[in-house]
Amino acid sequence: MPDLEPTPPSSVLQRPWVALLAIALIVGTIALAFAWIAGWLTPRRLTPQRFTNAIEAGNGEVYSGFRRAHAKGVCVTGYFEGNGQGATFSTARMFAPVHTPFVGRLSVGGGSPYGLDGNARVRSMALELNSDDGQQWRMAMNSFPFFGVSSADGFYEQTVANAPDPATGKPDPAKLTSFAAAHPEFARFAAWAKDTPWSTSWANTAYNGVDAFRFIDSNGRARNVRWSMIPQAAFAAMTPEQRKAADGNFLDEDLRTRLANGPLRWDMVVTLAAEGDPVIDPSQQWPEDRQHVTVGTVVIENSTPQTTGACRDINYDPLILPRGVEGSDDPILAARSAVYSVSFNRREHDIAGGDAGAATGKTPPREATR
Ligand code: HEM
Repeated sequence: MPDLEPTPPSSVLQRPWVALLAIALIVGTIALAFAWIAGWLTPRRLTPQRFTNAIEAGNGEVYSGFRRAHAKGVCVTGYFEGNGQGATFSTARMFAPVHTPFVGRLSVGGGSPYGLDGNARVRSMALELNSDDGQQWRMAMNSFPFFGVSSADGFYEQTVANAPDPATGKPDPAKLTSFAAAHPEFARFAAWAKDTPWSTSWANTAYNGVDAFRFIDSNGRARNVRWSMIPQAAFAAMTPEQRKAADGNFLDEDLRTRLANGPLRWDMVVTLAAEGDPVIDPSQQWPEDRQHVTVGTVVIENSTPQTTGACRDINYDPLILPRGVEGSDDPILAARSAVYSVSFNRREHDIAGGDAGAATGKTPPREATR
C-alpha cells in the first residue's frame, strides 16, 4: 500500500528555528521602529515629545489640563462669510458667499493660564471652520507678522534659551546671547516686539497665518499664499503704564463688553506670492507690493470660558485643511502639527484623569482666566 499520509512541509517542521528567526526578526523590526519614533535611538534628534518637554520646562511648571503653549484664552463662536473673491484661487467651499460656522479661540502667548494680559506680547486667534460640504479648516494665527526664527530647530533653541534658570527664575542672559548670535534673523522679531505699539483689545488686533499655504483653484492650479485677519475695530494703542495698571484679565473683560454691543469682525486678506518668494521660511515677509485679496469676513458673536467651552478639546492643527487648500513645503507646518498633537494628548490625558484646572474649572484668585 502506498503511504497516504501527507508529507509535512519540510522547511518549517524540520527546521523550526527558521520560523522562530523570522518571528524574532519581525518583532525586532517593530521594536526598532517604535524606539526610533520615540527617539530612544537618537537622543539628540528633535522629536515632538522632546519639543513639548522643552516647552513645559520653559513654562516653569506643567499646567495640567491646559494647552502647553497659548494656555490662557477664551472660546468664541461665530461664522465666516465668504464674499466670492477667494473662489478664483481656491475651491474651498468657505470662499463661496455662504456663512460657515466656526468654533474659535482667542488667546495670549505663554504657557501659564493665569498670566497677566498686560505682559503678553503675543495675541492669537484660532478657528475651526465647518463648511456645509463636510470639510473642515483649522487655523491658528498670531499677532506677529513673521516668525522669530527660520526653522523648527531654531524655535526649539529659542524655547530652551528662554527657559527660567532655576537659580534666578529668569532666563540665563548668556544663553539668550548665544541664541541670538546663532539666529541673526531673530533681531527683526525682537525689534517688532520692542517697537510695535500694543493694542487695547483682542478685537482691534490683526492676526497673521505667517506660514505659507497653497490654494488650489478649479483648474488644479496651485498658488502659494499667506493670510491675515485684519480687524474692522479701530486700532487704539496701550502705553506700558496702562498695561501695568490694567486688570490681569482685561482682554476677556473688554471682549465681553464689546460682544454685548454686537458681533466683532475681521477681514480675511490673502496675499499671493510671486515667483521666488520664500515659502519655506516664515521669518521672511513677502514684499508689500504683492497682490492682496479680501476674501471674506470673520464674525465673532459669542465667547465662553475655555474651561467649559467647545474650544477646550480642539487641537487647532494648521494642517487640517479643506479641499482647495494645502500645506506648503514650509517644514514648520509639519513640526507644528506634530507638537500640537503631543500637547493636545497630554492635556486631554490630564483632563481624563480628573487632574486638571481645565477639567474642574478651578482658577486661582487674582489673575485667573474665566
Ligand atoms: C515650530 C513652531 C511652533 C511650535 C513648536 C508651536 C507649539 C505650539 C503648541 C504646543 C501649542 C499648544 C497646542 C495645543 O495644546 O492645542 C501651540 C498653540 C498655538 N500656536 Fe503654535 N507653535 C509653533 C509655531 C506657531 C506659529 C508659526 C503660529 C502662528 C503664526 C502659531 C500659533 C499658535 C496659536 C494661535 C496657538 C493657540 C491655538 C489654540 O488656541 O488652541 N504657532 N503652539
